Amino acid sequence: MMITGTTRVFGVIADPIDHVRAPMVFNPVFEDRKIDAVLVPLHIPAHDLEKSVRGLAAMPNMGGVCVTIPHKLPMANLCDDLSLAAQITGAVNAVRFDQGRLIGENFDGAGFVSGLIGEGHDLTDANVLMIGAGGAARAIAVALAGQPIGQLTIANRTLANADAIATILREHFPQLTIQAIELAKVDAVLPAQDVIVNTTSLGLKDDDKMPCSLEGVDADVIIADIIMVPEKTAWLLAAEKKGLKTHAGKHMLDYQRDLIGRFLNIL
Ligand code: ATR
Repeated sequence: MMITGTTRVFGVIADPIDHVRAPMVFNPVFEDRKIDAVLVPLHIPAHDLEKSVRGLAAMPNMGGVCVTIPHKLPMANLCDDLSLAAQITGAVNAVRFDQGRLIGENFDGAGFVSGLIGEGHDLTDANVLMIGAGGAARAIAVALAGQPIGQLTIANRTLANADAIATILREHFPQLTIQAIELAKVDAVLPAQDVIVNTTSLGLKDDDKMPCSLEGVDADVIIADIIMVPEKTAWLLAAEKKGLKTHAGKHMLDYQRDLIGRFLNIL
């Protein structure tokens, strides 16, 4: 890949920076598709975020940045425009520079939904059960609510957190049936579900309990996780063993590449 005076420049901002994946995800695509762009790691400490980003946004050949830890929330506060997903999560993972303006998006949920559809799972009229009500859950809930699903049930250990997401979503998606329940009472709703997605941290550790039982679920249900390491959580392995359809966490990230590329006007 030859970088010249015409090459458009993009970045990924983080602190620490050495673990970022975006350069390895995007640059090979630019090379394959002969796109005159490059994406570089930009190490920005938290206390320098605003001045660094204002400087970057003032550069005419700098198109935007991917955003990761610890900047996802503070960067949302610096944006001039936020998508609905970014507003509801209060976090961004991509920011486009548009003549000095900062346009923020959060593709976590869109990546999850795009991954499900891309892997051949139909969401039309689906009853979806989402387990968890943290930051990732918010992103996924907004993206699911934007699909022609049947209904959305949010089950969480702390009911108030599930209720908070349901209340916000009902304002934006009044036509959709959304219910919030305690995770302890989830067994009663399992048989009616077409898709069950775990957005909690349960499954990261070997001795974690399962997000929910797999007894009593429909034989055609899709069991989806967003945990990336391990690639197959104990819950997904148990679902596979029962012959259920499964959807691993890695798809959520993989499918964000093209969404972010299009948003940044590169791909
Ligand atoms: P993230 O931003 O990655 O989504 P988070 O905001 O900390 O992380 O959210 C973690 C989610 O996992 C929450 O839904 C949390 O439930 P609570 O709202 O009750 O805290 C859920 N969670 C974490 N540990 C859990 C456990 N041991 N059992 C059930 N739910 C758990």
